[in-house]
Amino acid sequence: MLKAPQETLPPTGLLKVLGDPTRLRILGLLALQELSVGELSRALGLSQSRVSNHLRVLRETPLLAERRVGSSVFLALGVEAGDGSLAGRLWSALEGEIAALDEHERDLSRLRRVLSERRDRGPEFFDRVAGDWDTIGTDFASGQARQRAVAQLVDPGLVVADLGCGTGYVARALLGVAAKVIAVDASEGMLEEARRNLELAPAGTQVELRRGELDALPIADGEVDGAIAGMVMHHLPSLDSALSEMRRILRPGGTAVVLDLEPHREAWLHDTLGDRHLGLEPSAVVKAMERAGFEDVRVEALDDRYRPRHPEQGSHTADLPLFLVRGRAPRGHVAP
Ligand SMILES: C[S@@+](CC[C@H](N)C(=O)[O-])C[C@H]1O[C@@H](n2cnc3c(N)ncnc32)[C@H](O)[C@@H]1O
Repeated sequence: MLKAPQETLPPTGLLKVLGDPTRLRILGLLALQELSVGELSRALGLSQSRVSNHLRVLRETPLLAERRVGSSVFLALGVEAGDGSLAGRLWSALEGEIAALDEHERDLSRLRRVLSERRDRGPEFFDRVAGDWDTIGTDFASGQARQRAVAQLVDPGLVVADLGCGTGYVARALLGVAAKVIAVDASEGMLEEARRNLELAPAGTQVELRRGELDALPIADGEVDGAIAGMVMHHLPSLDSALSEMRRILRPGGTAVVLDLEPHREAWLHDTLGDRHLGLEPSAVVKAMERAGFEDVRVEALDDRYRPRHPEQGSHTADLPLFLVRGRAPRGHVAP
């Protein structure tokens, strides 16, 4: 939730705050887009310490609103033009003047670049959407895909890693099946949601949440019997380092499962769900798993579809086929 402080400054204080062109540029950008401090600094072309000094001043007013997700802070304009408050009225009077500021055009073009870079800035993007993920990002037609992914590891009593766990969609299906689930994600916001969703873990399944990247997993060599990467590989620049990490953490003979989308053309998923690739070729995943040293690598077609709904075109729902690839870590495997 966005929080803004009460109106505490006297009118002259507010005028002084608004009398600085950099602070007006900050408010102009935040009126267009919620941004992290890093993103805001890049959009302004200024150092973070300089921007932080201005934010300290703005924090004394209701003009700035902040939203915290884990250790990330997102900033937005705290007033609406015409909301009746003095700050709102002053902002209405000044809003139209922002376009006349020297740096305005450059700010807008840097902001466009920052927004287009967002999808490559994994954890920050996912921190932002974590609270809404179960509404926007877990629209599976039947749920069969995760059941089949989990079924590859049917043996009860296993230690299983859910890699790129998000809000815990896959991990939830492991509760009551696995002895222990180690759920890993790079986004603290997602881990917070997963913690909430997995809190009621049935007795018998121990759940551990660990923050980390797929290409440097916070899991020891051979620590797990099985590992599932559900709907995460299409976020990565390349599969190779994540798959060799998956092999490293598996005990000899352990099973790796990759569940993902087949190639598709729903380009809006770049922006709404942070997808880097529009699906993956199953054969490319097979080859990458073989390169990583997995044996007995097989593709399985799934009777399930991924159906996210377009956020603006409510009537448009994607209908995307899913696939699953599984492979076995060599039995005589010694972690590389
Ligand atoms: C599409 S969500 C999938 C979540 C969950 N597995 C599911 O099936 O609903 C992708 C998740 O992968 C995480 N992620 C993306 N890139 C990552 C990386 N390099 N390392 C660790 N986690 C990553 C994101 O934070 C996000 O929570």
